[in-house]
Amino acid sequence: MNKSNHKKFAFIGHPVDLNHLYILLGFWGWFAKLLPRAMLYKILLRLPPYKYCSFKKLMSKTGATASGWTIICPLLPQQVAFLKEEDVIKKVIQAVELAEKMGAEMAILGGFTSIVGNEGEVISRHSSIAVTSGNTYTACLAIEGIEKASKEMDLDLKQAIIAIIGATGDIGSICTKIFSRKVRKINIAARNERKLNIFADNIKRQGTCQVEVFKYTRDAVREADIILTVTSAVSVLIKPEDIKPGTIICDVAIPANIAKEIVNMRDDVLVFEGGLSKPPFEVNIKGKAKKAMPPKSIFGCLSEGMLLALEGKFENYSIGRGNITEQKIAEMFEIERKHGFSVADFFCGYKIFSKEDIKCIKRNAIRKKEGVNFAAK
Ligand SMILES: NC(=O)c1ccc[n+]([C@@H]2O[C@H](COP(=O)([O-])OP(=O)(O)OC[C@H]3O[C@@H](n4cnc5c(N)ncnc54)[C@H](OP(=O)(O)O)[C@@H]3O)[C@@H](O)[C@H]2O)c1
Repeated sequence: MNKSNHKKFAFIGHPVDLNHLYILLGFWGWFAKLLPRAMLYKILLRLPPYKYCSFKKLMSKTGATASGWTIICPLLPQQVAFLKEEDVIKKVIQAVELAEKMGAEMAILGGFTSIVGNEGEVISRHSSIAVTSGNTYTACLAIEGIEKASKEMDLDLKQAIIAIIGATGDIGSICTKIFSRKVRKINIAARNERKLNIFADNIKRQGTCQVEVFKYTRDAVREADIILTVTSAVSVLIKPEDIKPGTIICDVAIPANIAKEIVNMRDDVLVFEGGLSKPPFEVNIKGKAKKAMPPKSIFGCLSEGMLLALEGKFENYSIGRGNITEQKIAEMFEIERKHGFSVADFFCGYKIFSKEDIKCIKRNAIRKKEGVNFAAK
């Protein structure tokens, strides 16, 4: 039951890659490193979800409080992508049952745990506590991050071309709808061309901007001023050489769709991990995982669960693919402001971009563009 001062949530997370898995396994991590890969994958399949850490007494700007736990669903993204969907769903349901036993009133399906079972819809049917994928607020943060980056990079959104990779997905589709009223042209890409064409026709019917469908990601990104990647691909999709100088890249995907090394390879583009928020309180993130985030920042999906708990809104929220409406986005922005959350600092691969760094990126982009023009003359 929901008592106003006793709001509890559980975040269902998973290891993003092998290094992350070794960290999450704590003491057993060193043992896992010695195992042959196939055996490790089999053990993970049998390992039940377990409590990893707690979030104690979080207080928002309004004075509302909540607390919760992270529960690890021990499956790697490649296992989620290639195992039978029902086996993954079973494991996520076990994690939600554990959350319920611990007293949580809401389970947040982090990362790949929400991709199965139609974005949490199947899991919510098996759960007696509220469930959310966190995708509504993650989409808000992607939009907020891109708007902030455009201002800092002096890019006029109305004249811009944005490439959205994974445009037919849950987060990608609402971002495409919203950006179709803000930019000049949208290039969209995903693997299923039929779905992509039907979706493009819907956006074109609104008649607010040009829309072009691309079969290959690299063709979609080449002319883009902004790239938003929101795919469920388990590998890197975008190469540094396919990006033009001055581009803003917001990578929401976990695992990332663009190699973090780009930070060391291209000093003329602003690339940041999208879908991260900055809450108005310190969040205790354990060990090395801390270094993988900008200070005081957390994932958008976790933030959505925290915001809903602080708000006392224990209902299935972001559930089922394609259900995020513009009204829900507006509602989440309102809840964000009320509780004092905001988009995280620009951050990629352990680097935080300061205002000075962004000035350098702009200077380098101008030089490179001039260099290209000069060579072309
Ligand atoms: N930062 C955060 O807090 C946070 C929160 C939630 C989600 N996420 C991440 O956001 C991403 C998207 O989540 P979602 O729930 O929107 O997923 P989704 O609904 O499953 O959508 C995935 C999209 O990616 C496309 N796609 C998959 N593989 C692709 C490939 N190889 N090349 C091009 N497109 C591909 C899919 O279309 P096709 O199948 O037709 O290719 C679809 O359009 C995931 O990586 C998730 O982990 C991050």
